[in-house]
Amino acid sequence: MCGIVGYIGTKSACPILVEGLKRLEYRGYDSAGVAILNGGRIEIHKAAGKLRALEALLESCAPEGLIGLGHTRWATHGRPSDENAHPHSDCSGRITVVHNGIIENYLALKEQLIAAGHEFSSETDTEVIAHLVEQSCNGDLVSAVRQAVAQLEGSFAIAVIAQDDPARIVAARRHSPLVVGVGVGENFLASDVPAFLPYTKNVYFVDDDTIAVLERDHVSFSSLDGQPVEREIYEVTWDAAMAERGGYEHFMLKEINEQPQALRETMRERLSSYSAGIELPGLNLSIEYLRRIDKITMVACGTAFHAAMVGKYAIEALVRVPVELDVASELRYRDPIIDDRTLAIVISQSGETADTLAGLREARGKGASIVAITNVVGSSVARESESVLYTFAGPEIAVASTKAYTTQLMVIELMALYLAQARGALDETRARELRELLWNIPQQVEVILGDHPEALRCAEKYCNHNGFLYMGRGPNLASALEGALKIKEIAYIHAEGYAAGEMKHGPIAMIDPGVATVAVAVEGRTYDKVLSNILEVKARQGDVIAIAYEHDDQIGKYADHVIRVPRTNELLSPILAAIPLQLLAYHVAKNRGHEIDQPRNLAKSVTVE
Ligand code: M6R
Repeated sequence: MCGIVGYIGTKSACPILVEGLKRLEYRGYDSAGVAILNGGRIEIHKAAGKLRALEALLESCAPEGLIGLGHTRWATHGRPSDENAHPHSDCSGRITVVHNGIIENYLALKEQLIAAGHEFSSETDTEVIAHLVEQSCNGDLVSAVRQAVAQLEGSFAIAVIAQDDPARIVAARRHSPLVVGVGVGENFLASDVPAFLPYTKNVYFVDDDTIAVLERDHVSFSSLDGQPVEREIYEVTWDAAMAERGGYEHFMLKEINEQPQALRETMRERLSSYSAGIELPGLNLSIEYLRRIDKITMVACGTAFHAAMVGKYAIEALVRVPVELDVASELRYRDPIIDDRTLAIVISQSGETADTLAGLREARGKGASIVAITNVVGSSVARESESVLYTFAGPEIAVASTKAYTTQLMVIELMALYLAQARGALDETRARELRELLWNIPQQVEVILGDHPEALRCAEKYCNHNGFLYMGRGPNLASALEGALKIKEIAYIHAEGYAAGEMKHGPIAMIDPGVATVAVAVEGRTYDKVLSNILEVKARQGDVIAIAYEHDDQIGKYADHVIRVPRTNELLSPILAAIPLQLLAYHVAKNRGHEIDQPRNLAKSVTVE
């Protein structure tokens, strides 16, 4: 939800800001803008639409200046337009602000400011911040920002520059991500690290209610009441090339193909050989505690929630502890039954999803121990959790999640096996068998990616259908939901994911020649039932694409098309089933001529409620 960048140094700020915005465009692409402090004046350029519209505008004016801010917007307050694009200024144009988040009390503030004579030029909530800073500014920008922030309710990461205080950028955050990159003779700020990765890997993660002041050679932090705050510098392991398309047509395709490596990285040091037990170095919970828990609650949104669904099946089957699942936006308002014997597993690729963070806080407030599964080191979810199990997927830029999902599944499977081991719930022979199967998963994913002609054929044949039904059972119910989500978000085709047994309770009425059914039919406990469900669709003249194991010689008699995946245990099979589902969605969207990496109406990181 919106990306902000800032630069102060010895180079021309504008190209650095635009390059940073390109790397943040996944956060929103309704409009973009830059503000450059040039010869004592702030010059602002902004344009509705994707970043390329701003780039085209800048070709004719290319502002000079060594300090500046940039913004890419996902509209919340006010339609996408030039006027509502950030940066926003005060009445005099001497103070300029970029903002990610939502100011919940902006209407009340706006009324007060208008009554005090301020004039507004946009419909955004952000503009109030510029006017509040103006109201308190008497030469000291830091103090004015502090006073403005004290009046704000909601979520924000902001950065401010002022003509009268031209040697610094002042930034602040509450509940929205903000990182500071430390260079030599130059410093950066951004919503996410990839924005400045070509220049530095040394990063400060800014805490809530902290003010950051960036000068050319210095960065300092203070609390809202002005007390200095010490922060630690992290060196991130991502490099700039990881956030490039690397010859692929889309980030999504690159990320799909990165899965074998991402899965290996995620497994490394946790499962070093299948003959040894699982180790989870990030899990700061004693074996005694793990034996004492009587419930696990899993909290996430979107694709990460589907990973949690697989987790419920794996953990309940292997650990025999009840698992409760909650979409984060529901958990936070339903007063869940959670106490100090509850282990909460919070899953979030970005580690910044507002609802997931609120769910985490709700669970922690009720006494649960929190284990985070996240991809972003230093993210809010990571920092607020006592244990963090990272997915080492590298930066995921495409809005549609792929490698983050399968690496989340890998961590969940490792965790299920670890908990089973800790609680003595699984005999060693079976545990070893599952470890061996897990060990083989990255290589099996490689096999699927190496050759998938049937997925391509199906994408071509069904790309103009007006509906898809996805069905699965057991852990592959999550696969059905994830497959449907993928095709909805990038192909814009109506799709439903259903427990296969539920089809006859309603969704089967949708079967007609324009609706294709995708059935995840890997052998396991309910395989025969899924075959019957496929027959029910066929009996109503529906076309069926089955995702099934290699050498399954029955399935061809039931389905119109079979996309094969290598054999594994049913509990692990959602990792393999995900790959053809991603490929199908990708190629359907591509055949329909969609943008894919930046689907309409969406943003990668949902940092507002
Ligand atoms: O960063 P998070 O994992 O917390 O994001 C959660 C969802 O917004 C995300 O998974 C979303 O559903 C994806 N775009 C789906 O592909």
